[in-house]
Amino acid sequence: MKNTFRVVLASLGFALIMSAFAASKDPNISAIKARQGDMYIRAHNLGPLVAMAKGKMPYDSALAAQLAGNLKLLLDLDTSRDWPAGSDNKAYPDKTAALPKIWTTYPEIGEYAKEYAKSVNELNEAAGESLEALQAKIGAVGESCKACHDEYEAEHHH
Ligand code: HEC
Repeated sequence: MKNTFRVVLASLGFALIMSAFAASKDPNISAIKARQGDMYIRAHNLGPLVAMAKGKMPYDSALAAQLAGNLKLLLDLDTSRDWPAGSDNKAYPDKTAALPKIWTTYPEIGEYAKEYAKSVNELNEAAGESLEALQAKIGAVGESCKACHDEYEAEHHH
């Protein structure tokens, strides 16, 4: 009886997972969600770093090192599958803000990604050292996020 219950629970769990997949049968939708999730994690980690740099939150060396480290870890994800051609905001106006330009001018966006990576690597070296070191490196990160958005993201919704 107990075992049967377990099996039922297990298959229910599996069904739930599979229906999450089924909800995005279109692989472009899945890719859009993945990249937006990636971006959201970046923002979630960047927020407190900016707050500390601006003195809106007390500087915490361990937390600063952790969050900058998270941004650095995200750089190591190979997210190339999250940007399939045809997943722009012309094809999916309600789902994405990614401009077609990303693909029509490719690999130009790579330059923005490179600037971003450089700024995150430098932030990661500095963030846990001191408030002054964090302040010296945080600006370039925010600017590189913004530079890419200004160029390749429609209508800021964040
Ligand atoms: C190389 C380009 C690039 C860089 C660098 C970049 N972004 Fe983005 N970001 C985009 C694009 C393109 C979109 C639109 C994605 C979509 O809607 O499919 C986006 C979307 C977002 C979104 C909205 C996600 C959603 O749920 O719709 C947030 C938040 C975000 N970015 C935060 C950041 C932060 C914070 C940084 C820097 C730490 C950053 N991004 C760096 C290109 C970039």
